[in-house]
Amino acid sequence: MFKERHLVEPGNLTLEEMDKLFDLAEQIEREPQYLRESCRGKVLATLFFEPSTRTRLSFEAAMLRLGGACLGFSEPGSSSTAKGESLADTIRTVSCYADVIVMRNPKEGAALLASRYASVPLINAGDGGHHHPTQTLTDLLTIRRLHGSIQGLTVGFCGDLKFGRTVHSLAKALARYPAIKMLFISPPELGVPAYITDGILKKAGIPYGETSNLETVIGELDVLYMTRVQRERFFNEEDYIRLKDSYILNREKMGQARDTLIILHPLPRVHEISPELDDDPRAAYFKQAKYGMYVRMALLASFLGIG
Ligand code: NCD
Repeated sequence: MFKERHLVEPGNLTLEEMDKLFDLAEQIEREPQYLRESCRGKVLATLFFEPSTRTRLSFEAAMLRLGGACLGFSEPGSSSTAKGESLADTIRTVSCYADVIVMRNPKEGAALLASRYASVPLINAGDGGHHHPTQTLTDLLTIRRLHGSIQGLTVGFCGDLKFGRTVHSLAKALARYPAIKMLFISPPELGVPAYITDGILKKAGIPYGETSNLETVIGELDVLYMTRVQRERFFNEEDYIRLKDSYILNREKMGQARDTLIILHPLPRVHEISPELDDDPRAAYFKQAKYGMYVRMALLASFLGIG
């Protein structure tokens, strides 16, 4: 079903396909031996033109746990990009060496372009402020695991909703599930793009609200998706400094939240979640990082025609 596909944005997968991936990821979590060694002889290339900890390492851990091998770069300066090679040529070349490519690139649209030149499956690990579909799979799996299903939930997104690609991908994906309500909490300058509010949510009749005040809405939420202010996408350091600490989630603010709320964060966290919350049972961001590896194992196996 998945063989020889690309994953550029969450819309490339149907809800049914995502459910199959989540079932498979949960099975791998329950039975760690399941699919072990199933990718022996297969090679994953990770091409990271931007920094990463979780996405790259969880993909590599996933491939190694499936018995396959990994190659790639995490510093574009060490690849021929530094000599002026085009992305198209890099992708054509890496397609000769690997069975699947995972790429992160600072330019919006780079993943779509790369997919046109890839002769093996290409998975987008983030293209600028645009999309990050495997983080979305991670987020949805975490919500399903901890809330039991992905419907009928009120999801709050807080922080940099303008540049945060994980927000764009997750909001777009959640819009396909029944009875979802979304609340976007950000300074006005970092609001969610109109292509999501007007272009997707309004058109689909999905209830949503926008506010700059976290305290007034935190009590309504089932999921609070915190995000970092995306310093690398600002044109101006002064704006970053002014906006970077707009929201700091702490015990006091969590006092008004439901007991069943889950706090998610794609990580890395800077200051937006106080470490005093790490022991709060509602803090789910490290579990989320772990589920990211299981869902990437499920994804790699499926895209390679296994599992
Ligand atoms: C996110 C990203 O790269 O967009 N990180 C991740 O993949 N877990 C979030 C971020 O960098 O803020």
